[in-house]
Amino acid sequence: MQTPNNYIKEHKERFLNELVELLKIPSISADTAYSQDVLNTATAVEKALSNAGCDIVEVIDTEGYPIVYGEKIIDPNLPTVLVYGHYDVQPPDPLDLWDSPPFEPVIKKTKLHPEGAIFARGACDDKGQMYMHVKALEYMVKNDQLPCNVKFMIEGEEEVGSKNLAQFVAEHKDRLANDIILISDTGMIANDIPSITTGLRGLSYVEVEVTGPNRDLHSGLYGGAVANPINVLTKMIAALHDENNHITIPGFYDKVEELSQEERQEMAKAPFNLEAYKETLNISAVYGETGYTTNERNSIRPTLDVNGIWGGYIGEGAKTVIASKAYAKISMRLVPNQDWEEITQLFSSHFKSIAPEGVTVKITPHHGGQGYVTPIDNIGYRAAAKAYETTFGKTPVPQRGGGSIPIVSLFEKELKSKTILMGFGLDSDAIHSPNEHFGVWNYLKGIETIPYFYKYFSELKS
Ligand code: BES
Ligand code: MN
Ligand code: MN
Repeated sequence: MQTPNNYIKEHKERFLNELVELLKIPSISADTAYSQDVLNTATAVEKALSNAGCDIVEVIDTEGYPIVYGEKIIDPNLPTVLVYGHYDVQPPDPLDLWDSPPFEPVIKKTKLHPEGAIFARGACDDKGQMYMHVKALEYMVKNDQLPCNVKFMIEGEEEVGSKNLAQFVAEHKDRLANDIILISDTGMIANDIPSITTGLRGLSYVEVEVTGPNRDLHSGLYGGAVANPINVLTKMIAALHDENNHITIPGFYDKVEELSQEERQEMAKAPFNLEAYKETLNISAVYGETGYTTNERNSIRPTLDVNGIWGGYIGEGAKTVIASKAYAKISMRLVPNQDWEEITQLFSSHFKSIAPEGVTVKITPHHGGQGYVTPIDNIGYRAAAKAYETTFGKTPVPQRGGGSIPIVSLFEKELKSKTILMGFGLDSDAIHSPNEHFGVWNYLKGIETIPYFYKYFSELKS
């Protein structure tokens, strides 16, 4: 029998080349200058799915970028796996921090990827990880190893908040009906410590604007006599955390799911090296909410972070000016039971209430979503764990993740199915950062592991 491993050995070069071609298209969903490239990527994914063996493939228009849908139904009585992924990528800037151009993929060796890693925007998040599923399907179809039905839903707006996916899912419930949803858009602990992500944080993302005087002013003529929006904004932001790094918004923690001591002890068993963590980031100390460990702070605890802040004069040299306006983009990562719309409300009323007289505050919510937790006692998780045991020779560690894929909780609500997050990237792969990469070993290991998920899931389900 042809095993995934043999098939991969035979087709490795082609698997890599195909991904490289996909990575060359700058599918930056946030920047309308790239809209044709985003559309071209949808077409490329459509072709890839049909080459891999889907019987039906469609590029379905939405108000925004299209959703690529594909399916291979071998027997309506068999279980169905729905694969979700995204073909859009984050903007690559700051460009000057890339060692090679973000859309000219190169393979280079790194300390953690001695077999080489593909450097390009989207290599790991999520083109590379999404494409593992396309190649795993190819293996199963070409070798008569597909044990169940499969559907693909690959979107082009994940990095900008999946604005049109909710409606699509609500309108196509029958078409998307499935027994389990499978996503590779997260990471794992290390190449020799496989892990399965069992939770995602929710998100509320807002932009704030503080306005003082109706025009920019001479900072000598007016300085000291009127509220400076930048001074005020930074003071307001500083007031959002107390001395223990707790968030000060009234009601913010009311619904936070507190883990039991037992659950926290279980979590603490996941391998983690604080010294190595600090070293890779070149920081002398970690920082965060009092009373929680680093792994707790970045997964089971909510956060509030400024993602960008601007205003006033930032050109060369000095200009004496009090700006009329100051701005910041703020994200709040949320944990199960916190409702993102409610949190956005709480933030807005609190932020307005702490503004001093003499300024006005405008708040624009961007996007958001709920958190998610996968139970580890369901068939999907067990099938995934067996798949990792087969290809890694080790039982994967369940690990709550800190990132967000807001659409996952919506899938559960609309489609009534659980999601299994089989991520093969590493935290150090620099997603959303300059020099994003994805290990060649990880890419191929993903392609090898996925078919076993299908096999064990189908066996456990019948
Ligand atoms: N793939 C990431 C999410 C992720 C990465 C989860 C690693 C867990 C581990 C996804 O593409 C992403 O970037 N999501 C955004 C949210 C989205 C609404 C823009 C995020 O987490 O910032
Ligand atoms: Mn992603
Ligand atoms: Mn992302």
